[in-house]
Amino acid sequence: MDGYTLRHTLPTKKDFVDTADFDQSEIIDIIKLSRLVRSHIKSGRHLNTLYHKTLAMIFEQKSTRTRVSFETAMVQLGGHALNLAPGAIQLGAHETIEDTAVVLGRMCDMIMSRVDRHESIEALAKFAKVPVINGMSDRVHPTQGIGDMITVFDHWPKGKKPNDIKFIFVGDATQVCNTICEITTKLGFNFVHYGPENHKISDEWLELGKKNAERYGGSAIWSEDPEVLKGADFIYTDVWYGLYDKETPKEVYMKDFYPKYQVNDEMLEATGNPNVKFMHCLPANRNEEVTDSVLDGPNSAAWDEAENRLTAQRGLVIYFGRAAQEALDVIKLQKEGNDAKEEI
Ligand code: CP
Repeated sequence: MDGYTLRHTLPTKKDFVDTADFDQSEIIDIIKLSRLVRSHIKSGRHLNTLYHKTLAMIFEQKSTRTRVSFETAMVQLGGHALNLAPGAIQLGAHETIEDTAVVLGRMCDMIMSRVDRHESIEALAKFAKVPVINGMSDRVHPTQGIGDMITVFDHWPKGKKPNDIKFIFVGDATQVCNTICEITTKLGFNFVHYGPENHKISDEWLELGKKNAERYGGSAIWSEDPEVLKGADFIYTDVWYGLYDKETPKEVYMKDFYPKYQVNDEMLEATGNPNVKFMHCLPANRNEEVTDSVLDGPNSAAWDEAENRLTAQRGLVIYFGRAAQEALDVIKLQKEGNDAKEEI
């Protein structure tokens, strides 16, 4: 990471509403920045580049990882995050999303929101004059995708190039699956959605993955054939039912996915790769989409992945808080100071 310089500076107004808002070089920039800041903070050094900056966090749904990681990131970097839960602000009661966006944009430096419907985050981004970050919508979960790719970099299969990496998303084509399809193919990996036809990734996302693959190498496919598991470097899954499907009884989902798409020891064995890594965005329904033995087992990268939500959020708020160059300068200066002290 020595000598790393940022290739991107933030234009006047940029949002992270969809995974598509970042091209390959921006994704790599954010991953590198996030990992660099992580080493800096983990070595006990400070970074106050977001001093007096505020992040408004609007949650239309529950959250553990997204909420805690953004708030912690802001505090660690000298700023402040405001948790604006449903019922706590006028949004949805006496005020429109557009007016809320204008007002928050005049008071805060950034807005992050988890919304029920993707149109809401688009409206926030359209009307707020500050960067808007999507903390998950029914379409995508882009900040999850950045944290996940940091986890892939942390667990990079030895000796492999991006185009050699096989990344399999198992189960339901959730918004996390859409994001993983886009971000893995942008990094040149071979993406597979392994799931039942009635829950397969949409043609829109698969086509996007294929277009990325044409540009960056790699591939994107959907399959129901367990043969595709062979040679996997990463097996990723998400819950089979939940937030957006309350009307569908659990039993229906269980019939579609269980037992074929449960990630268990047999599935990991079927990859033929003893070093295959298991990933899950969490929260998990233990012993449904994944067994305890896999989630808590030696191949699990899911807990590193959860922690990397914080790694990613630090990079993202520094970037969107227009503090990336300053952060790099401080890290470099402090490192040089430490090196000099060691020499003395
Ligand atoms: N993965 C994820 O977004 O977790 P939370 O719902 O707890 O934020």
